[in-house]
Amino acid sequence: MKKYRVGLVGIGAVGTEMIKILRQRKFPASEIRIMARSERDEEVAGETFRVVETTPEAFDGLDVVFFAGTEGSAGASKQFAAEAIKRGCVVIDNGSDFRMEADVPLVIPEINGAALDGHKGLIANPNCSTTITLMGLAPLHRAVPIRRFTAVTFQSVSGTGRAAIEELDQQARAWAAGEFIENSVYPRQIVFNVLPQIGGPKADMPGYTSEEAKMLFESRKILDAPGLRASATCVRVPVFYAHSIALNLEFTAPMPPAKAREILAASPGIRVMDDLAGGVFPTPLDAQEADDILVGRVRTDPSVENGLALWVVGDNIRKGAAQNAVQIAEAMIARKLI
Ligand SMILES: NC(=O)c1ccc[n+]([C@@H]2O[C@H](COP(=O)([O-])OP(=O)(O)OC[C@H]3O[C@@H](n4cnc5c(N)ncnc54)[C@H](OP(=O)(O)O)[C@@H]3O)[C@@H](O)[C@H]2O)c1
Repeated sequence: MKKYRVGLVGIGAVGTEMIKILRQRKFPASEIRIMARSERDEEVAGETFRVVETTPEAFDGLDVVFFAGTEGSAGASKQFAAEAIKRGCVVIDNGSDFRMEADVPLVIPEINGAALDGHKGLIANPNCSTTITLMGLAPLHRAVPIRRFTAVTFQSVSGTGRAAIEELDQQARAWAAGEFIENSVYPRQIVFNVLPQIGGPKADMPGYTSEEAKMLFESRKILDAPGLRASATCVRVPVFYAHSIALNLEFTAPMPPAKAREILAASPGIRVMDDLAGGVFPTPLDAQEADDILVGRVRTDPSVENGLALWVVGDNIRKGAAQNAVQIAEAMIARKLI
């Protein structure tokens, strides 16, 4: 079996999980070269890795590189993705810098793996809430097209990265000790609070945040449904891992709950946990470290014709980021693209 020389830029919340997933899924890697802003040793799951500084030359000889650095002009992808492609690497980027570019496939392998075929060296991994939402929505949409949806997200702090995980932990300890609660990552206290703002204000969508806009535009691109209508409210909650999403879907024809459960149960990467009377429904603690997206509370939404409500939960660091990125690489191998 062919082995691949793998690069990883960034060893924060997503990068660390990426290494674990490459090992767990036995990705055929002959090398894992880790880059970040500074050189050092890092231990991940009992293995010590040498981390080198990210430079153009550090990409030489690599076949596929996962980018899990920060976003924006000072971020790793903006600075180094083009350089890596020039040096012959296929880049799989976790950030949002290139997701909406026309020649960049935005891929969830279970949904639109075929979009990989036209790649030009850079593939984007969707936003975590978008991936978790679409894993629950796409199989139903394939059976009966969805006209519109609304989503309210309950997003864990790990979605912000390592510093935010530490902030929730420190605030919980300070609260328990009766000490002053400090905040620096979030604009307000996150422990015992919920913050209805993820990302900054979106100038061309007044009243919405960038995270909420991603849910709409990335969904349209992944589903190849330019006319799809959607509205999201994205909320940060004091949970360490896994995002939960309350979804209301409006179909173009009836989608009875029993049929929806049957479709979802037969879809790869989804586990249905739905027995309200028996107290069976997914929570973030059920989804943490799980590969599957969990779906429950499937019921008719009587507020619209052909309406369905459901509750979808997934590990944002795994299927919402690192796992999906590794699955993209696996799909590229299967399609003989790398
Ligand atoms: N967390 C999630 O749920 C999630 C989900 C989907 C997508 N994402 C995206 O995945 C990416 C990584 O997120 P994260 O949560 O893992 O962040 P994080 O915990 O803050 O870690 C960021 C890592 O990137 C490195 N880095 C930052 N800027 C760099 C640069 N210019 N050059 C090289 N390395 C650089 C940092 O290096 P040092 O260690 O040397 O400082 C650090 O290792 C982001 O684009 C994020 O938006 C995250």
